[in-house]
Amino acid sequence: MVPRSRIRELAEIAMGMDGVLRLYFGESNLPTPEYIKRAAVRAMEDGYTFYTENAGLPSTRRAVAANYQQLHGIELDPSTEIIVTASGVQALNLAIRCVLDPDDHAIALTPAWPNGSACMMMANASVTQIPHPLCGERYRVDFDALEAAVTPRTRMLLYTSPSNPLGWVATAQEQQGLLDFTRRHGMWLLADEVYDRLYYAGSRLGDPVPSILRIATRDDAVMVVHSFSKSYCMTGWRVGWLIARRDVTEKATQLNEFVVSHAPTFAQKAGETALADGEAELERMLERLKENRDLCMNALRGIAGVTVPKPDGAFYLFPRVDGLSDSFAFCRRLLEETRVGLAPGVAFGEGGEGSFRICYAAERSILEPAMERLTKFLVG
Ligand SMILES: Cc1ncc(COP(=O)(O)O)c(C=O)c1O
Repeated sequence: MVPRSRIRELAEIAMGMDGVLRLYFGESNLPTPEYIKRAAVRAMEDGYTFYTENAGLPSTRRAVAANYQQLHGIELDPSTEIIVTASGVQALNLAIRCVLDPDDHAIALTPAWPNGSACMMMANASVTQIPHPLCGERYRVDFDALEAAVTPRTRMLLYTSPSNPLGWVATAQEQQGLLDFTRRHGMWLLADEVYDRLYYAGSRLGDPVPSILRIATRDDAVMVVHSFSKSYCMTGWRVGWLIARRDVTEKATQLNEFVVSHAPTFAQKAGETALADGEAELERMLERLKENRDLCMNALRGIAGVTVPKPDGAFYLFPRVDGLSDSFAFCRRLLEETRVGLAPGVAFGEGGEGSFRICYAAERSILEPAMERLTKFLVG
């Protein structure tokens, strides 16, 4: 049984109310940039309205490969190691379906976006969630707990960096540790890197979080899930990609035929333009996001009983409230009394209870009053 989303449950209550400041969903309220929309229109006019290959247009796969070369110095073979998917969640699903058999076991690092664990359950696998411990200001990986969770049927470890909802970014040492762990136990390492461009701790804004692919070889059992949704404000376009070892991409390409066949054709073309021409717009967005992050941190820090770990990536804050044991009831009361809509920590699995998630990718006209009402609610 796949549990229903507790973010959606809260959102459904909020949707029946007027005047809600909505910070519960994980998307920017910026529209897709004009240059991307124009590229889609051009693509339709140029005839990109037909079926494509199951692995996506060769030109889109080449564009993804060129992007990895430019950002990470990694050589990927576009014809055998990349599949364009109809979104990040579809890439997750494909990756999981290709590797997990019924009754297999997988490990997911949490708190995390619930869809990863849900996809594993949909593949009839069991999942053990291992929470990131909070040590002072920073979340870490509990390698002892990982070792203890391994069973003879454990086939996969999923982690998300930058993390939704934590904003945690794996250090080089943590990435190496995760890779060593999965190599040692002969399991797949699935890295969700959809937020890798939303990174505030690089040497300059716009630097990506280094991909796990920089340290893994192309023969390693490593897969990376990615998406156009977050970096290019394209959530509604449903286009992403999966990078995997060639035996898995071959399987996933075959499987894709029976799932969605391929991502929308003109959306793939628009994605190519986003990758080629998107840097300046992305940097402007990052400046705004970083300011928003700091605004929220400053508003919440200093409130007794509230811990606000500093997120280095994504666009979320995940404050923890001392003594909070029902984050759903907390978010519901906040919504009803102040019209501020946040996501309850319990929605993100093990380790999430006791916290709430703020998505700060919102306009100042929403964020500022929301933070004012939230701080009053927490203090009062
Ligand atoms: C961690 C993570 N991975 C993947 C996705 C999937 O994004 P999409 O399916 O829009 O590409 C999301 C969306 O919220 C996410 O937070």
